[in-house]
Amino acid sequence: MDKLIEKAADIIVNSTLTPALTGAGISVESGIPDFRSAQGLWSKFDPAEYATITAFKSNPEKVWEMLREMDKIVNKARPNNAHFGMGELEKMGYLNCIITQNVDNLHQAGGSKNVIEYHGNTNSLTCLWCGKKYKIEEKRGEFPPRCDCKKILKPDVIFFGEAIPQDAKVRSFQLASSAQALMVVGTSAVVSPANTIPAIAKQNGAKIIEINKERTHLTDSVTDLFLEGGASAIMSTLVEAVKKKVRGISSATVYNMQH
Ligand code: APR
Repeated sequence: MDKLIEKAADIIVNSTLTPALTGAGISVESGIPDFRSAQGLWSKFDPAEYATITAFKSNPEKVWEMLREMDKIVNKARPNNAHFGMGELEKMGYLNCIITQNVDNLHQAGGSKNVIEYHGNTNSLTCLWCGKKYKIEEKRGEFPPRCDCKKILKPDVIFFGEAIPQDAKVRSFQLASSAQALMVVGTSAVVSPANTIPAIAKQNGAKIIEINKERTHLTDSVTDLFLEGGASAIMSTLVEAVKKKVRGISSATVYNMQH
């Protein structure tokens, strides 16, 4: 694994544009279950009944049973070392942007500033009838949360059957098509259009670094470096390797300047 980490650090330090694509796996070590692993959310709630916009419109009380359970977990969750490590890489200038499928806000809490949210964010709610918006804090504890017009509010997350925000799609495709490297962290890459990002980057010559606790369909198709393991341990080791490389480069530059 050390050799792979070394190679990944090399790619990252030498890349002029490195976005990342993240999925639920990066937040599992913060206590938020992913969707498709054995204990994943979809093993408890059938997405066809709880995660489509049709299901929400026809039975919002039922969908809020799942959302309420998720809200309790997300509200308690804190960033883990994978989130913090990506925040550090951004600060060091080696990670330009995170394209996330997650709605838990943990990348921002972990210090990342440039985050594209493909599936929205649980921080706010909207009334589908009168359009009024609320912060989640205004309605926490109210189940299901209702608008002043008495209708049940919808969280500002993208359900199956809803379109990805246009600006998120445009910006992420632009990044993928000019990336020199792409980090793919904690996603099964089965949901479109987020799962097209790695192929777009690959087609345009980017090196794909995949971090996952198990192999995915990307691993043998587009991935150049597969770093197998938990996201927080792998990311912490990778960030240390990048820092060591950067120290090496800067001291070599100083040496050359002095001789
Ligand atoms: N470290 C690294 N990878 C992990 C970890 C971990 N600790 N735990 C789980 N994983 C990996 C799993 O092996 C899997 O490949 O994370 C991935 C999670 O995949 P999914 O559960 O399918 O989640 P995601 O890819 O984000 O799903 C995409 O599907 O249901 C929709 O809207 C939902 O945004 C979600 C989208």
